[in-house]
Amino acid sequence: MKKITIAIDGFSSTGKSTLAKQLAKHLGYVYVDTGAMYRAVALYAMQNNYIGTDFFDKEKLISSLPSIKLHFKFNSELGFAEMYLNDINVETEIRTLEVSNFVSSVAAISEVRTKLVEQQQEMGKEKGIVMDGRDIGTVVFPNAELKIFMTAGADTRAQRRYDELKAKGDSVSYEEVLKNVVERDYIDTHRVDSPLVMADDAIEVDNSYLDRKEQFDAVLELVNDVINAV
Ligand code: DC
Repeated sequence: MKKITIAIDGFSSTGKSTLAKQLAKHLGYVYVDTGAMYRAVALYAMQNNYIGTDFFDKEKLISSLPSIKLHFKFNSELGFAEMYLNDINVETEIRTLEVSNFVSSVAAISEVRTKLVEQQQEMGKEKGIVMDGRDIGTVVFPNAELKIFMTAGADTRAQRRYDELKAKGDSVSYEEVLKNVVERDYIDTHRVDSPLVMADDAIEVDNSYLDRKEQFDAVLELVNDVINAV
C-alpha cells in the first residue's frame, strides 16, 4: 500500500499527539512529536540559564544551537518514541508547566525553527509518517497528502492539560494552566516566523465534543480516502 505523509497541526492540548500516535500505530507509520523537539530546546535554554522568568539571552541560545543534539528513541513498552537531548532521555522534564511557559518564546526564534525543520524534513523523507506540530502542513511538509488542523475551546484544552498534570502529581491550579494555554495560543499565532495558521488545504477537526474513538474513526476515514486515491 502506498505510504503517505500525514501532517497534524493545531492549538496546544487539542489532543494532536494522542490522535497522531493512534494513527501511526494503526498504519505502522513513524510518529514524530515536533513539540517535544521545541520543548527540548527550551529545556536546554533553562538548564544553561539562557531563559528565566524575566530574562532571555537569545543570542547565547542561537550560538549554542550546534551543541544541541536531539533524537527520538522508540520505547517498546510505552509504544512511542521518547525525546533525547544530548543523549539524555528528557521525556518527563519537557512536559512540565515550567517548560510550557518558556517554549513558545524559544519556538519563535527563526534559527531554532530552521534547525528543527531541517531535521523534521529529513525524518519524513521516506513518507509513512505522522507528524504533529504547528507548521507541519504549512512549512515542514507543504505537500503532505493529508493535513488535519485540530481545534477545541481554550477551556476544554486547559481542563485536559490540568487533568494530565494533576495525574502526574504536579501541583498546579486550573487558572495557571488556562493562562498558559491562552498565552501560548497568542504567541504561537502571532510570531513572525511560521505562525500557527491552518493550511488552505487542511481539514479542520474540532474535537471539543468528540471522544477519542469518534475522533479516531473520523480521521481514519479521511486517511483511507486519501490512501485509496493516491
Ligand atoms: O505541541 P506542544 O504543546 O508540545 O508544543 C510546544 C510548543 O512548541 C508550542 O507552544 C509551540 C511550539 N511548536 C512550534 O512552534 N512548532 C511546532 N511544529 C511544534 C511546536
